[in-house]
Amino acid sequence: MLDKKGLEKFNQDHLIEFEKLMSTNEKEQLANKVDSLNLSDIQDLYEDLYVNKKVIDDVSSINEVKYDVKNDFSEEEIKKYEEVGLDAIQKGKFAVLLMAGGQGTRLGYKGPKGSFEIEGVSLFEIQAQQLISLKEQTGVAVDWYIMTSKVNDKETQLFFEAKDYFGYDKSHVHFFKQENIVALSEEGKLVLDVDGNILETPNGNGGVFKSLKNSGYLDEMTDNGVEYIFLNNIDNVLVKVLDPLFAGYTFQKSMDITTKSIQPKEGESVGRLVTANQKDTVLEYSELDPEVANEFNNANIGIHTFKLLFINNVVDHALPYHLAIKKLKQLDDDFGVIEQPTLKFELFYFDIFQYANSFITLQVPREEEFSPLKNKEGKDSVETATADLKRMNLI
Ligand code: UTP
Repeated sequence: MLDKKGLEKFNQDHLIEFEKLMSTNEKEQLANKVDSLNLSDIQDLYEDLYVNKKVIDDVSSINEVKYDVKNDFSEEEIKKYEEVGLDAIQKGKFAVLLMAGGQGTRLGYKGPKGSFEIEGVSLFEIQAQQLISLKEQTGVAVDWYIMTSKVNDKETQLFFEAKDYFGYDKSHVHFFKQENIVALSEEGKLVLDVDGNILETPNGNGGVFKSLKNSGYLDEMTDNGVEYIFLNNIDNVLVKVLDPLFAGYTFQKSMDITTKSIQPKEGESVGRLVTANQKDTVLEYSELDPEVANEFNNANIGIHTFKLLFINNVVDHALPYHLAIKKLKQLDDDFGVIEQPTLKFELFYFDIFQYANSFITLQVPREEEFSPLKNKEGKDSVETATADLKRMNLI
């Protein structure tokens, strides 16, 4: 049985009404789940991130990051970086880490986003093909670590099995799961998912390093002599996965964090890469005054390399939650299924930047390296991703 008084204290007593409609088994499950939650912390998250949401409008303490521009490199420089990169890859200095635990709510596709196909080629395959061609060039199969979440882990692994790992070496593909956190209604109330359980969602891509550690793969990388982790998203169809130039640039610069960026368009809703208090950081577009956002030249596209030593040192440090409002399926008061804006709490991987001591950014041409698949239609959609893949002769 739920504890009415305890729930009232945190504005969650609506669960009592749900409980009335449940079987004995369901009641017990609900009570156990609620017992395992820290309702006070959940209320604090709601108050801090939704009720008292702040935007950054003071630009005085934030500056442009230190960056190079790929188009300014001479042919010789490019050749040199590529040689250094290929050599380091061959020596096993890099691992690739793919974040594929998201729900892809905007795309509205049922399966894992990576299994979404454009003209018969899935997003996973687009990335796998690049690791295959890197193996052809270096003779080395780079270890590919793929973060999934409770909502898509099984389906993702079955998809890889069904596609025979796209011809990549199965022994070099490793899956691990990120954690979940509860979601809330806009009134700050816990909600039930379509199966009548407390609705939980993946806790954002910031769980990536801790989950990597908990899975034992961070130690595995260390034991294997890996020095840098290349990190990228699932949904940028033009991503260059561990391109030798960026690998060489990373290796030569030897920073805690090396980042790729693009020149943002005015008003573009992409996080801006800035320096604040001597640290590079990403300010989410939704957390920035648009005027402030327009002052900066580097947009974050989710492509970085991290020194393994750095990650090992900071992996247990705390990261803050951010708020995202996404349309999620859930039960209404009468146990009918509805889909409505819901508060999701997410950790962002780039909050780990605050613990780093050295940074460098390489600005790359958007038209060659960035085309995210986020929406069903319009901007950053299936249509734009397809057109960009064709333009680059990738499909
Ligand atoms: P997005 O922030 O675009 O989220 O993810 P999403 O879940 O894919 O899509 P929407 O916003 O619901 O439509 C950026 C990258 O971070 C990964 C995604 O898989 C994608 O590669 N991600 C996001 C995770 O791995 N875990 C998460 O909890 C959230």
